[in-house]
Amino acid sequence: MNLTAEQIQGNWDTFISNIETHITGDRKQALLDFYNKYQERVMLMPAAHKKEYHNSFPGGYVEHVNRVVRCDLKQAKLWEEEGCDMSTFTTEELVFSAINHDLGKMGDENNESYIPQTDKWRREKLGEDYMFNKQVPFSSVPDRGLFMLQSHGVIYTFNEMLAIQTHDGLYDAANEKYLKAYMPEQKPRTSLPFILHQADLMAARIEFEREWLPKLNGSLEKQKENFTLNDKPKSTSKQQKALGSIKSEGLKNLLDNL
Ligand SMILES: [Fe+2]
Repeated sequence: MNLTAEQIQGNWDTFISNIETHITGDRKQALLDFYNKYQERVMLMPAAHKKEYHNSFPGGYVEHVNRVVRCDLKQAKLWEEEGCDMSTFTTEELVFSAINHDLGKMGDENNESYIPQTDKWRREKLGEDYMFNKQVPFSSVPDRGLFMLQSHGVIYTFNEMLAIQTHDGLYDAANEKYLKAYMPEQKPRTSLPFILHQADLMAARIEFEREWLPKLNGSLEKQKENFTLNDKPKSTSKQQKALGSIKSEGLKNLLDNL
Protein backbone atom coordinates (compact mmCIF):
# COMPACT_ATOMS: atom_id res chain seq x y z
CA MET A 1 0.00 0.00 0.00
CA ASN A 2 0.97 3.64 -0.22
CA LEU A 3 0.13 6.74 1.75
CA THR A 4 -0.88 10.01 0.14
CA ALA A 5 1.30 13.06 0.69
CA GLU A 6 -1.43 14.51 2.89
CA GLN A 7 -1.49 11.35 5.04
CA ILE A 8 2.30 11.46 5.39
CA GLN A 9 2.10 15.10 6.49
CA GLY A 10 -0.77 14.34 8.92
CA ASN A 11 1.14 11.41 10.44
CA TRP A 12 4.16 13.65 10.96
CA ASP A 13 1.99 16.23 12.74
CA THR A 14 0.67 13.47 15.05
CA PHE A 15 4.23 12.23 15.67
CA ILE A 16 5.37 15.71 16.78
CA SER A 17 2.19 16.24 18.80
CA ASN A 18 2.91 13.03 20.77
CA ILE A 19 6.25 14.56 21.81
CA GLU A 20 4.59 17.89 22.67
CA THR A 21 1.94 16.13 24.77
CA HIS A 22 3.92 13.49 26.63
CA ILE A 23 7.58 14.50 26.90
CA THR A 24 8.62 16.98 29.59
CA GLY A 25 11.67 18.85 30.89
CA ASP A 26 14.78 19.91 28.98
CA ARG A 27 14.75 16.78 26.86
CA LYS A 28 11.43 17.73 25.26
CA GLN A 29 13.10 20.54 23.27
CA ALA A 30 16.16 18.37 22.62
CA LEU A 31 13.91 15.68 21.15
CA LEU A 32 11.94 18.20 19.07
CA ASP A 33 15.23 19.69 17.80
CA PHE A 34 16.43 16.20 16.91
CA TYR A 35 13.34 15.32 14.90
CA ASN A 36 13.16 18.75 13.25
CA LYS A 37 16.78 18.31 12.13
CA TYR A 38 16.00 14.96 10.51
CA GLN A 39 12.38 15.70 9.58
CA GLU A 40 12.70 14.99 5.86
CA ARG A 41 14.39 11.65 6.39
CA VAL A 42 12.22 10.39 9.24
CA MET A 43 8.93 11.62 7.75
CA LEU A 44 9.49 9.67 4.51
CA MET A 45 11.28 6.57 5.80
CA PRO A 46 9.78 3.11 5.29
CA ALA A 47 9.52 0.89 8.39
CA ALA A 48 11.33 -1.92 6.54
CA HIS A 49 13.20 -2.42 3.26
CA LYS A 50 11.14 -5.43 2.10
CA LYS A 51 7.44 -5.76 1.40
CA GLU A 52 7.57 -9.11 3.27
CA TYR A 53 8.10 -7.20 6.50
CA HIS A 54 5.81 -4.30 7.31
CA ASN A 55 5.12 -0.75 6.13
CA SER A 56 7.78 -0.81 3.42
CA PHE A 57 6.61 2.38 1.71
CA PRO A 58 7.32 6.13 2.01
CA GLY A 59 6.01 7.36 5.37
CA GLY A 60 5.65 3.79 6.66
CA TYR A 61 8.01 4.34 9.58
CA VAL A 62 6.09 7.23 11.17
CA GLU A 63 2.75 5.52 10.48
CA HIS A 64 4.09 2.45 12.34
CA VAL A 65 5.51 4.44 15.25
CA ASN A 66 2.25 6.34 15.74
CA ARG A 67 0.39 3.01 15.82
CA VAL A 68 2.84 1.64 18.40
CA VAL A 69 2.26 4.72 20.59
CA ARG A 70 -1.52 4.16 20.42
CA CYS A 71 -1.22 0.41 21.07
CA ASP A 72 1.25 1.05 23.91
CA LEU A 73 -1.18 3.34 25.75
CA LYS A 74 -4.01 0.84 25.26
CA GLN A 75 -1.88 -2.14 26.31
CA ALA A 76 -0.82 -0.28 29.48
CA LYS A 77 -4.50 0.16 30.41
CA LEU A 78 -5.06 -3.57 29.95
CA TRP A 79 -2.05 -4.42 32.10
CA GLU A 80 -3.25 -1.99 34.78
CA GLU A 81 -6.74 -3.50 34.80
CA GLU A 82 -5.19 -6.92 35.32
CA GLY A 83 -3.13 -5.78 38.31
CA CYS A 84 0.25 -4.75 36.85
CA ASP A 85 2.29 -2.53 39.21
CA MET A 86 2.06 0.76 37.29
CA SER A 87 4.26 2.56 39.83
CA THR A 88 7.35 0.98 38.21
CA PHE A 89 7.22 3.28 35.15
CA THR A 90 5.66 6.56 34.04
CA THR A 91 3.39 7.36 31.09
CA GLU A 92 6.20 9.56 29.77
CA GLU A 93 8.56 6.57 29.80
CA LEU A 94 5.91 4.48 28.07
CA VAL A 95 5.43 6.99 25.25
CA PHE A 96 9.11 7.98 24.95
CA SER A 97 10.05 4.31 24.47
CA ALA A 98 7.35 3.84 21.83
CA ILE A 99 8.28 7.01 19.91
CA ASN A 100 11.95 6.04 19.77
CA HIS A 101 11.86 2.22 19.76
CA ASP A 102 12.77 1.86 16.05
CA LEU A 103 14.81 5.05 15.71
CA GLY A 104 17.91 3.02 14.79
CA LYS A 105 16.26 2.31 11.44
CA MET A 106 17.02 5.86 10.32
CA GLY A 107 20.72 5.16 9.86
CA ASP A 108 23.44 7.43 11.17
CA GLU A 109 23.89 11.20 11.21
CA ASN A 110 24.90 11.37 7.55
CA ASN A 111 23.39 8.34 5.87
CA GLU A 112 19.97 6.74 5.62
CA SER A 113 19.76 2.99 6.30
CA TYR A 114 17.20 2.36 3.57
CA ILE A 115 17.74 3.86 0.13
CA PRO A 116 15.78 3.28 -3.09
CA GLN A 117 16.63 -0.08 -4.70
CA THR A 118 18.71 0.45 -7.84
CA ASP A 119 18.52 -3.16 -9.05
CA LYS A 120 15.51 -3.41 -11.40
CA TRP A 121 15.38 -7.21 -11.10
CA ARG A 122 15.25 -7.10 -7.30
CA ARG A 123 12.55 -4.40 -7.43
CA GLU A 124 10.37 -6.36 -9.82
CA LYS A 125 11.00 -9.97 -8.77
CA LEU A 126 11.62 -9.64 -5.05
CA GLY A 127 9.49 -6.60 -4.34
CA GLU A 128 12.39 -4.71 -2.80
CA ASP A 129 11.68 -1.02 -3.26
CA TYR A 130 14.57 -0.26 -0.88
CA MET A 131 18.01 -1.64 -0.12
CA PHE A 132 20.42 -1.25 2.77
CA ASN A 133 22.87 1.62 2.44
CA LYS A 134 26.39 0.17 2.60
CA GLN A 135 27.72 3.52 3.86
CA VAL A 136 26.14 2.80 7.25
CA PRO A 137 28.26 0.55 9.51
CA PHE A 138 26.38 -2.36 11.07
CA SER A 139 24.63 -1.90 14.38
CA SER A 140 21.48 -3.40 15.84
CA VAL A 141 18.43 -1.13 15.54
CA PRO A 142 18.15 -0.56 19.33
CA ASP A 143 21.87 0.17 19.72
CA ARG A 144 21.86 2.71 16.90
CA GLY A 145 18.70 4.37 18.13
CA LEU A 146 20.08 4.80 21.64
CA PHE A 147 23.38 6.08 20.19
CA MET A 148 21.56 8.66 18.05
CA LEU A 149 19.62 9.91 21.08
CA GLN A 150 22.65 10.23 23.34
CA SER A 151 24.80 11.81 20.61
CA HIS A 152 22.16 14.53 20.19
CA GLY A 153 21.87 15.26 23.90
CA VAL A 154 18.53 13.49 24.46
CA ILE A 155 18.61 11.97 27.95
CA TYR A 156 16.76 8.70 28.53
CA THR A 157 16.00 6.80 31.72
CA PHE A 158 17.09 3.28 32.68
CA ASN A 159 13.53 2.02 32.04
CA GLU A 160 13.49 3.60 28.58
CA MET A 161 16.91 2.15 27.74
CA LEU A 162 15.72 -1.32 28.76
CA ALA A 163 12.43 -1.06 26.85
CA ILE A 164 14.02 0.23 23.63
CA GLN A 165 16.84 -2.33 23.87
CA THR A 166 14.45 -5.30 24.29
CA HIS A 167 11.44 -4.16 22.23
CA ASP A 168 11.79 -7.14 19.84
CA GLY A 169 11.33 -9.47 22.80
CA LEU A 170 12.70 -12.97 22.32
CA TYR A 171 12.60 -12.60 18.52
CA ASP A 172 16.10 -11.18 19.11
CA ALA A 173 18.32 -13.70 20.91
CA ALA A 174 20.43 -10.83 22.26
CA ASN A 175 17.52 -10.06 24.61
CA GLU A 176 17.70 -13.40 26.36
CA LYS A 177 19.99 -11.97 29.03
CA TYR A 178 17.16 -9.66 30.09
CA LEU A 179 14.06 -11.71 29.28
CA LYS A 180 15.09 -15.32 29.88
CA ALA A 181 16.47 -14.89 33.37
CA TYR A 182 15.26 -17.43 35.93
CA MET A 183 16.50 -15.67 39.07
CA PRO A 184 13.86 -13.18 40.30
CA GLU A 185 16.53 -10.51 40.96
CA GLN A 186 17.67 -10.71 37.33
CA LYS A 187 14.22 -10.18 35.83
CA PRO A 188 13.18 -6.64 34.77
CA ARG A 189 11.80 -4.65 37.72
CA THR A 190 9.13 -3.16 35.48
CA SER A 191 6.65 -4.53 32.93
CA LEU A 192 7.40 -1.65 30.54
CA PRO A 193 9.56 -3.77 28.15
CA PHE A 194 6.79 -6.40 27.85
CA ILE A 195 4.10 -3.79 27.23
CA LEU A 196 6.17 -2.11 24.50
CA HIS A 197 6.97 -5.47 22.90
CA GLN A 198 3.28 -6.39 22.81
CA ALA A 199 2.38 -3.01 21.30
CA ASP A 200 5.07 -3.34 18.63
CA LEU A 201 4.07 -6.93 17.84
CA MET A 202 0.43 -5.91 17.54
CA ALA A 203 1.20 -2.96 15.26
CA ALA A 204 3.54 -4.94 12.98
CA ARG A 205 1.08 -7.84 12.71
CA ILE A 206 -1.79 -5.51 11.77
CA GLU A 207 0.43 -3.81 9.17
CA PHE A 208 1.38 -7.24 7.75
CA GLU A 209 -2.28 -8.27 7.51
CA ARG A 210 -3.23 -5.02 5.80
CA GLU A 211 -0.50 -5.47 3.18
CA TRP A 212 -0.63 -9.19 2.61
CA LEU A 213 -3.99 -10.80 3.37
CA PRO A 214 -5.70 -9.24 0.34
CA LYS A 215 -2.79 -10.36 -1.85
CA LEU A 216 -2.68 -13.89 -0.42
CA ASN A 217 -6.40 -14.20 -0.99
CA GLY A 218 -6.01 -13.04 -4.60
CA SER A 219 -4.08 -14.37 -7.57
CA LEU A 220 -0.29 -14.55 -7.72
CA GLU A 221 -0.28 -12.22 -10.73
CA LYS A 222 -2.26 -9.67 -8.74
CA GLN A 223 0.24 -10.02 -5.93
CA LYS A 224 3.18 -9.29 -8.25
CA GLU A 225 1.41 -6.28 -9.71
CA ASN A 226 1.18 -4.78 -6.27
CA PHE A 227 4.77 -5.51 -5.39
CA THR A 228 6.50 -2.30 -6.42
CA LEU A 229 5.93 1.40 -6.40
CA ASN A 230 5.85 1.47 -10.22
CA ASP A 231 2.83 2.34 -12.32
CA LYS A 232 1.28 4.69 -9.78
CA PRO A 233 -0.31 8.01 -10.83
CA LYS A 234 2.01 11.01 -11.07
CA SER A 235 2.09 13.41 -8.11
CA THR A 236 -0.49 16.16 -7.97
CA SER A 237 0.06 19.81 -7.12
CA LYS A 238 -1.50 19.10 -3.68
CA GLN A 239 1.13 16.43 -3.01
CA GLN A 240 3.89 18.73 -4.18
CA LYS A 241 2.62 21.38 -1.76
CA ALA A 242 2.42 19.01 1.23
CA LEU A 243 5.97 17.77 0.73
CA GLY A 244 7.42 20.77 -1.06
CA SER A 245 10.53 20.99 1.13
CA ILE A 246 12.01 17.61 0.10
CA LYS A 247 15.62 17.96 -1.07
CA SER A 248 16.76 14.35 -1.53
CA GLU A 249 16.65 13.30 -5.20
CA GLY A 250 16.10 9.62 -4.29
CA LEU A 251 13.13 10.47 -2.11
CA LYS A 252 11.71 12.79 -4.77
CA ASN A 253 11.82 9.91 -7.25
CA LEU A 254 10.02 7.68 -4.79
CA LEU A 255 7.38 10.29 -4.13
CA ASP A 256 6.80 10.79 -7.83
CA ASN A 257 5.55 7.22 -7.78
CA LEU A 258 3.13 7.72 -4.89
FE1 LIG B 1 8.51 -1.38 15.59
